[in-house]
Amino acid sequence: MITLGFNYSQMHDSSACIARDGELLFAVAEERISRMKQDARFPKHAIAACLEFAGVRPDELDFICSGWPMPGKTFATDMKCILRGQYPATYLNVLNSARLFASMAHQNGGFRRFTDIYGPTRAKTRFVDHHLAHAISAYSYSGFDDAAVVVMDGRGAWEASSIWHGRDGRLDHVLTIPWPNSLGLFYAQFTQYLGFVPNSDEWKVMGLAPYGKPGINLGEFISANHESYVVNAPLLFERKNGVSAIAKRLGPERTPESEIDDSFKDVAFAVQDACEAAMMALVKMALQKTNSRNVCMAGGVALNSKANGKIQASGMVDKIFVQPAAADDGVALGAALAPYLDNGGRLPMKPMRNAYLGPEYSNEEIEKALRTYKLRACKLDNVAVTTAEFLANGKIIGWFQGRMEFGPRALGHRSILADPRDPEMNAKVNNAVKFREWWRPFAPSMLKEAAPEYLESAFDSPYMILTSPVRQEKRAVIPSVTHVDGSARPQTVEKEIEPLYWNLINEFGKRTGVPVVMNTSFNLRGEPIVNTPTDAVRTFFSSGMDALVIGSYLVEK
Ligand SMILES: [Fe+2]
Repeated sequence: MITLGFNYSQMHDSSACIARDGELLFAVAEERISRMKQDARFPKHAIAACLEFAGVRPDELDFICSGWPMPGKTFATDMKCILRGQYPATYLNVLNSARLFASMAHQNGGFRRFTDIYGPTRAKTRFVDHHLAHAISAYSYSGFDDAAVVVMDGRGAWEASSIWHGRDGRLDHVLTIPWPNSLGLFYAQFTQYLGFVPNSDEWKVMGLAPYGKPGINLGEFISANHESYVVNAPLLFERKNGVSAIAKRLGPERTPESEIDDSFKDVAFAVQDACEAAMMALVKMALQKTNSRNVCMAGGVALNSKANGKIQASGMVDKIFVQPAAADDGVALGAALAPYLDNGGRLPMKPMRNAYLGPEYSNEEIEKALRTYKLRACKLDNVAVTTAEFLANGKIIGWFQGRMEFGPRALGHRSILADPRDPEMNAKVNNAVKFREWWRPFAPSMLKEAAPEYLESAFDSPYMILTSPVRQEKRAVIPSVTHVDGSARPQTVEKEIEPLYWNLINEFGKRTGVPVVMNTSFNLRGEPIVNTPTDAVRTFFSSGMDALVIGSYLVEK
């Protein structure tokens, strides 16, 4: 059976994936191909890439599945919430909601677009409830037989958070907390208050939080007790005479790009703290209700690596799996497997071994791109050794190898790498390459074998989705990847899974005694991560990187 899953809501993160007999073959977000960040348009390029990779004609697909229910459900929820006073009855809200509904209905949720582009297909089409798609994406790829499954995001059509019980390849619904009682909404509203882009820049708030201090009480906006949380959505939405309820209580909103004074740092601290408490409560409730010791998580809120690290270290759970594409791009993965649940069926339960699910480019294709730009490049005998030498000499390297990652993190296939021992490296990479905010931490990639030596927890963290305190004595050894609160968001690299990247880090370790590199995504600020060799070359020459190691080739400036 060949199934295609896609995410298309016109809100953000369109994507597609393809699976054969339950084996995930390929997945890519539309933004990586279209080069428009968080592209919300119909994922036509992503679908074409899936079909091409699998060598499948559109008429050979058995199922095409959307990670959203039939158009109309979101609109109905909005209207119901307006009538109940949970969502402001403004002209703009009604108009936007109606416009989205009309557009999605006209496209039949995207299926009409598919046939317009690819012609008629014998494939069955399927709308999959949004949180079910997230839940499948977390459970089916976890490899756990029995697990509590927790989905937390901004919103589905009607869902905000949901709990499921995964057992023997089946997924039983336990409960749903309806929108707008939403952790994603809570975080997004404060992200906006802090002068960042909601539903996009939540990372920045999480990175800023450790610079703040406790003291601000957000109890009016969110509360959590031992078994759940409550978000006061009407108050979060409230705006009188142009002043939001948040600004009324905490002072004027921060102007984007302006200085960040201490009061905003303290708000970031309080927001992160409240979110962690709520996530902890939800996971605790899920474990109790399912009587399980394992947890699988997905939904955009599950990208909160700080909270995830605390959940893992809490002693509440034996095993944790956070699906690396936890945001909406990842619902494609769940949607594609939904047909397996039909007629009492079971999910394929094939654990995700890595997130390298995207396109790959051969040395010939790389050569072609280098020739087009008339670049002088040399072919390396040992890519890992040369790159390790460059890194040990303080160079900033663009590293482009193998299949592109699926999900927001670069995991050593489309990465910018540097020496984590240099306390100035954070600033150097920020100024020369990323042009991003000074307070956002960079993350380390380390040999899995070295993780216990450097970290207090999260020894198995292949997807950079959990944070861990760095051991006290190692903080000064890898200062540029240790955050101000002493934590790091590590990627632990396993030799069997990623031999080339493992070798590189190992070679760096042989030269420096530190088997850890600084790894940040290969992109410029505000742009998607590079996909093709051409993207890589352009980004390399638009930044202060010293060298580009692309396939077997080295390009220097
Ligand atoms: Fe979602």
